[in-house]
Amino acid sequence: MPIDTQALNRGRHSLDNYDELWLFGYGSLIYKVDFPYLSKEPAHIHGYQRRLWQGSSDHRGTPDSPGRVATLTPVNGAVCYGIAYHVTQEEFEHLDHREKNGYLREEIDIFFQNGRKVRGLVYMATPDNEAFLGGATIEELAQHIFNSSGPSGDNKDYVYELAKALRARGVVDEHVLALEQALLKIESR
Ligand code: BEZ
Repeated sequence: MPIDTQALNRGRHSLDNYDELWLFGYGSLIYKVDFPYLSKEPAHIHGYQRRLWQGSSDHRGTPDSPGRVATLTPVNGAVCYGIAYHVTQEEFEHLDHREKNGYLREEIDIFFQNGRKVRGLVYMATPDNEAFLGGATIEELAQHIFNSSGPSGDNKDYVYELAKALRARGVVDEHVLALEQALLKIESR
């Protein structure tokens, strides 16, 4: 039975006191923007790395055979580059639903390219959520991703789209690039 974090997120942070908030996107929020926003800006956060360590039973896999999608793992000194969206608080109903499989909203400092810093939110799936799969070698992760598919499409396309979107923004993410290369190698066999 997949977990559903919608109610947890609603109870966790009351957004009632905010008309507008900044949301940091580092995974599908970079390339699948199915919500209105007031503005968006390249941004980064400190202390986290992007990793495909979260199970997906609702988008890129199934409950019997979950795929793998991005979450953030804490690493001292790391920087994760993504996109910050300035959104009205109403958008979180849709976003909480879209990312309901284990992701909790956390408060975080978001840094823009001009050095400006804002307090915002990010969705994070931590090792204590039931859908968390954790790490493995790049080859094992790629094989798992290659074999997975769900209602939102093939899991490999998640990696290809994320890699393409990061590349288009000049972001070098070794983990995502290594997965993309390993997937292309599997495809060429
Ligand atoms: C993101 O792209 O920021 C994101 C990734 C996973 C779940 C929710 C959001």
